[in-house]
Amino acid sequence: MTAAPVGFRCEGGRWAADPPSYSHSVNVEQAYASVADLYIGLFGTVQQVHPDDLAFIGRHLSIRPGKVIDVGCGPGHLTGYLRSLGVDATGIDIVPEFVAHARAAHPDGDYRLESVESLDAESGSVAGVLAWFSTIHLPPPELDGVLAELRRVLTPDGTLVAGFFEAEAEGEGVEPFEHKVATAYRWPADEFAGRLTRAGFAEVERLHRPSDGTHRPYAAIAAVSHRSAVTGR
Ligand SMILES: C[S@@+](CC[C@H](N)C(=O)[O-])C[C@H]1O[C@@H](n2cnc3c(N)ncnc32)[C@H](O)[C@@H]1O
Repeated sequence: MTAAPVGFRCEGGRWAADPPSYSHSVNVEQAYASVADLYIGLFGTVQQVHPDDLAFIGRHLSIRPGKVIDVGCGPGHLTGYLRSLGVDATGIDIVPEFVAHARAAHPDGDYRLESVESLDAESGSVAGVLAWFSTIHLPPPELDGVLAELRRVLTPDGTLVAGFFEAEAEGEGVEPFEHKVATAYRWPADEFAGRLTRAGFAEVERLHRPSDGTHRPYAAIAAVSHRSAVTGR
């Protein structure tokens, strides 16, 4: 048998997904906490975000009325951007330094220390979710659980916008790489989209941003929570 794909192990001659382990969240939290000031300086304002990304986010999440949660909001600049468009956006993150900065930099918004793995929101109560590079550190088998949690809190037809690093080569699978903060994963966009479909989302629009020498290739997908996939509502 060849080497195990990322996130899987060999069990009785067959591949089995690694059991979920949220210990990576602790490592990710500590890793971001240790570079929070640097991160805020490099990425913490909307001026540092590509205009096409802002347009994509704004186009799909300018949802009024209705709450939008920016999960893994980091410095809070994208929450602030959505609020500047009149959106009732709040931000959550696991890094206290980010939450403190977001509260200070964008005092009109609500920022909470919370994990995307278990959101403090009623089922079907949220109109939109922004997950901008917030799932990049999740070991691949754990993405499904997080997408299910996002799906749980969204209203039928609620919108999810997710940004993630994209696999560079055709035919490449999900691959880990040494991101400057903590191990991250790059996804073939079709595979990320497939996970969204399995979680009960229907893709609406996709954005590709190939590398221009200054950043890694990345993609974003806007998807709506599929009404027909809703059970018990
Ligand atoms: C690459 S940064 C992106 C931050 C921000 N969205 C941005 O675009 O600048 C990843 C963010 O996800 C947060 N994060 C990682 N795991 C998380 C979790 N389980 N729950 C909430 N936030 C998480 C990190 O603390 C960090 O702020």
